[in-house]
Amino acid sequence: MNTEHLIRTFVEYYEEQGHRPITGSTLLPPPGDPVLFTTSGMHPLTPYLEGRPHPSGRRLVNVQRCLRTTDLDEVGDSTHLTVFQMLGTWSLGDYEGRQSLDWGYRLLTEGLGIDPGLLHATVFGGDEQVGPDTDSLRLWRERGVPVERTVEDNWWSNGPVGPCGPDSEIFLWTGDTPPPPHSTPTRDDRWVEVWNHVMMRHRRLDDGRLVPLPQRNVDTGLGVERLASLLQGASSVFECDVFEPWRRLVPTLWPLQEPSLRLVCDHLRSAVVIIGDGVRPAPTGRGYVLRRLVRRVLTVLWRDDPSRGLGDLPREPLSHTLDHFRQVGGPEPVRRLLLEEEQGFRRLLERGRKVLARPRFRGPLGEEDFRYLHDTHGLPRDLVTSLREG
Ligand code: SER
Repeated sequence: MNTEHLIRTFVEYYEEQGHRPITGSTLLPPPGDPVLFTTSGMHPLTPYLEGRPHPSGRRLVNVQRCLRTTDLDEVGDSTHLTVFQMLGTWSLGDYEGRQSLDWGYRLLTEGLGIDPGLLHATVFGGDEQVGPDTDSLRLWRERGVPVERTVEDNWWSNGPVGPCGPDSEIFLWTGDTPPPPHSTPTRDDRWVEVWNHVMMRHRRLDDGRLVPLPQRNVDTGLGVERLASLLQGASSVFECDVFEPWRRLVPTLWPLQEPSLRLVCDHLRSAVVIIGDGVRPAPTGRGYVLRRLVRRVLTVLWRDDPSRGLGDLPREPLSHTLDHFRQVGGPEPVRRLLLEEEQGFRRLLERGRKVLARPRFRGPLGEEDFRYLHDTHGLPRDLVTSLREG
């Protein structure tokens, strides 16, 4: 089952349950939103979770591209990507969590053919502010799915304040042998989280207090590439169909060890999507996230061979990614931008090396040195640090 098929199956299933598909929006949050990028499917829906009526009704389904830099250090393991697609469903003050979990269970087992014996769930066990999620616990017991109770791992929020709530996560077994008795998601990472159902009915205030939202919502999110790779029997997200041209072509250009290959493919693919959504490299904000991704790629490539360059990248993986995310404009402008960024980075490194060779910068650097290097020579702190380490 390729990712397109998975997305179609998911959306059609929820349409049958009365959900209206809404257009998944770009990585860029609406103007005035304090976050740089959309990090989860619920993010653009925040006003509707807080009570504003949604023009498409109370049951929604979509696929949303997301970007998470909080997971950057985990990129390269089997399950984390910087840019990924999230399938989401919402009950805006309509049905409750129990119904959501039941549909989720049916879609995974009957719709997608997953062996129910390979599922495990977790639920919120309760804390001093909110009681245990007994509805979800009961549902899983009725379905015969083993369930573990946790506290922090089963509370979802998008930030320190705003809508939040207890969640129930569904895990899929990825071990080579059947799951051993008593193995649980928190103790055995062969259980991989595939779907999160959040009972979004609280709002966290600035002072830490929780108040009820005007309506009881359910917000669910399922990572497309992660589930697709498991359904495809792939050993990591990098082996699923969305990476096919990257995995085929990048190693022929640049022989890399697996961890570096994963980082290069992930970051380049993410950069393509970010550029496809209209972001340009810049010294701050979104543009700096893009810049850092490209620089991380170049740093890895140049470690073994400084003559490597992004100009050698064929168009195929770029077009494949742009098509997959339905982004217009074609690969050529993306290639040009990547190349300009590479040239700028080469010049910056040369200048940086010369400046840092001055006697003033031989010893430990203070805040004032970092400020001077940044303001006068355009050398960001992380670059200065890596040049001095290198
Ligand atoms: N908001 C939850 C998540 O991002 C479910 O959509 O995991």
